[in-house]
Amino acid sequence: MSRRFVAGETLDEAIAAARKCNELGMLVSLDYLGENVATTTDAQRARDAYLEIFDRIAKEKLSANVSCKLTQLGLDLSPEFCEGLVFTVVERAAGYDNFLRVDMEGSAYTQRTVELVKQVRARNAAVGTVIQAYLYRSESDIRDLLGHSCRVRLCKGAYKESADVAFEKKSDVDGNYVRLMQLLLPSGIYHAIATHDPHMIGETIRWAAAKQISKGDFEFQMLYGIRTDLQRRLVSDGYRVRIYIPYGRDWFPYFMRRLAERPANIGFLLRNFLRR
Ligand code: FDA
Repeated sequence: MSRRFVAGETLDEAIAAARKCNELGMLVSLDYLGENVATTTDAQRARDAYLEIFDRIAKEKLSANVSCKLTQLGLDLSPEFCEGLVFTVVERAAGYDNFLRVDMEGSAYTQRTVELVKQVRARNAAVGTVIQAYLYRSESDIRDLLGHSCRVRLCKGAYKESADVAFEKKSDVDGNYVRLMQLLLPSGIYHAIATHDPHMIGETIRWAAAKQISKGDFEFQMLYGIRTDLQRRLVSDGYRVRIYIPYGRDWFPYFMRRLAERPANIGFLLRNFLRR
């Protein structure tokens, strides 16, 4: 079942999936799966994998950028070491006029991620990050990042968080999502609205139209394998849509997050398992 959400274990499989998306008029962000590495060697291997992805994107002339996680690039080991690796990857991205998106992980990493991205961005602008609408702190993080002209991907948030730091009710998360979208879109910076929720998408479309923010001034983003109907509809309505395509052998934590955010997926998994 992980195949529904993950393009495969190799870069070749991810490239093939990216090409299909491009042919359908969609942009792509490739993610080499992995997180919380335990050694500097593993972090350096991840850096090398990201350098190779940018080279392949350029060689294959794909409309794609790249997403990564800081704990895959050694954030748990040393923020300075991690920043060095990220900077090398961002320089490679910039060399191709491309872009690196730093995903946001659990709230224990939020402050360090925002700080590291700001530091790297001050030296090279080809990097942006992600803000999660379920965290109370997100409005202040967005104001901070906007002050540094940083591109933001807005999502709801995928990690298990406590009520001390995050809204628990879906209606509160959704309300905050809409407020944050309204902060981002008029900033004049190119941001990403990442959600499969038709209500969030509808609010974005209505609000952007009312404020005369054009379709090319932002993009929608969705995950590989989720709501492909909606992805295609937005493209045919003239919106920019980017598909986040994860690949790699370390797919398990990503897959578990996709199962956890939708109980129906677990039922599907169990039914398939029992049938065997
Ligand atoms: P919501 O959960 O309300 O779902 C709306 C609808 O989408 C559902 O009714 C269903 O139809 C469909 N859907 C959603 N999830 C599904 C699933 N797993 N399986 C099947 N259908 C599903 N999070 C994070 O913490 N850090 C990050 O860096 C990122 N990055 C990121 C990039 C991109 C491009 C996207 C789209 C999302 C992320 N996320 C993320 C994940 C995000 O935080 C969130 O967990 C998921 O997008 C689900 O939330 P929705 O906004 O889709 O709404």
